[in-house]
Amino acid sequence: METGSLLPKNWRTNFCGRVKSAATVLPTFRVQVCPSTVVRAPKCLGSTFYRVTDMLHVQDLKCLYSNAIRALDGVSITVGKGEIVGLLGPNGAGKTTTLRCITGEIAFLNGRIFEGEVRFNDMKLGTAFPFEVTQLGISLVPEDRKLFIDMTVEENLMMGSYTIRDRKLVRQRYQKVFDYFPILGNFRDRLAGYLSGGEQQMLAIGRALMSNPQLLLLDEPSTGLAPLVASAIFDIIAKIRDEDGTSILLVEQNAVMTLKISDSCYILENGRSVLHGKSAELRNNSKVKNIYLGISEDIDSGLLGQG
Ligand SMILES: Nc1ncnc2c1ncn2[C@@H]1O[C@H](COP(=O)(O)OP(=O)(O)OP(=O)(O)O)[C@@H](O)[C@H]1O
Ligand SMILES: [Mg+2]
Repeated sequence: METGSLLPKNWRTNFCGRVKSAATVLPTFRVQVCPSTVVRAPKCLGSTFYRVTDMLHVQDLKCLYSNAIRALDGVSITVGKGEIVGLLGPNGAGKTTTLRCITGEIAFLNGRIFEGEVRFNDMKLGTAFPFEVTQLGISLVPEDRKLFIDMTVEENLMMGSYTIRDRKLVRQRYQKVFDYFPILGNFRDRLAGYLSGGEQQMLAIGRALMSNPQLLLLDEPSTGLAPLVASAIFDIIAKIRDEDGTSILLVEQNAVMTLKISDSCYILENGRSVLHGKSAELRNNSKVKNIYLGISEDIDSGLLGQG
């Protein structure tokens, strides 16, 4: 039977309460995560067990900075296994803050979640520390890359593997990064600060991949890059999903490329998710066309051309 195929469309609302925990957090913070969460099907579908393929659930998240600035006011996002999900929105919409709430970084910026929740593989992440979140399988490529500019490419990559004890796995990941970004192979001993913008972005993604994540969070990876380099980065993001099966939450300003490589997309405005849908459908949505793709309805429907 196909994984999850028989679950009804609205299963999430109806049966979320029945999802059983698939993870055990040991007192030492070593974490065992089952490869998939299992849910018992409703009686009407028999007693078979179905795999739930959704990995990340952000549910009606509301958050404050300094107990005063309401940055998020109801953000809901779901990322399935092996999915690329885009997160678009204007400056200040709350995209980075959403990622900070997922990684736990928000608490270090005098921020707090006051309503809603973040679940990863059915574990509530609310108060987890960033290193615990990384251990669970979530890795972030931050907006400003945050590379160690006085360290070499190799040292930066090794910093990304600090949560992994299996040295064989570290070697495999190290090799995989150079498979994705062969150009970094020529610069193993170069200081990160001496790399070009595009190479630094590759290194930042490579460092995040070193922890062997199940879910990769990317905060505007194409910002400041020449179109050709940005396009290469988007190709690699798609390749990471295709080859590693890694789920990806992609925050971007480049709506054209994001809608092209993602399976579904969310649009955030003023701290709220205001639109969600399959990327192929959103490409034809009039609001998305007008505001995010810069295509005027008039031009698109050929009215101006007929004049
Ligand atoms: N550390 C902070 N302290 C206080 N307010 C903050 C902080 N970081 C962000 N904000 C505020 O939270 C809101 C959302 O900001 P956020 O950085 O999440 O937006 P964004 O969608 O990522 O924007 P951009 O596209 O410019 O990166 C903004 O009003 C911003 O001013
Ligand atoms: Mg941002």
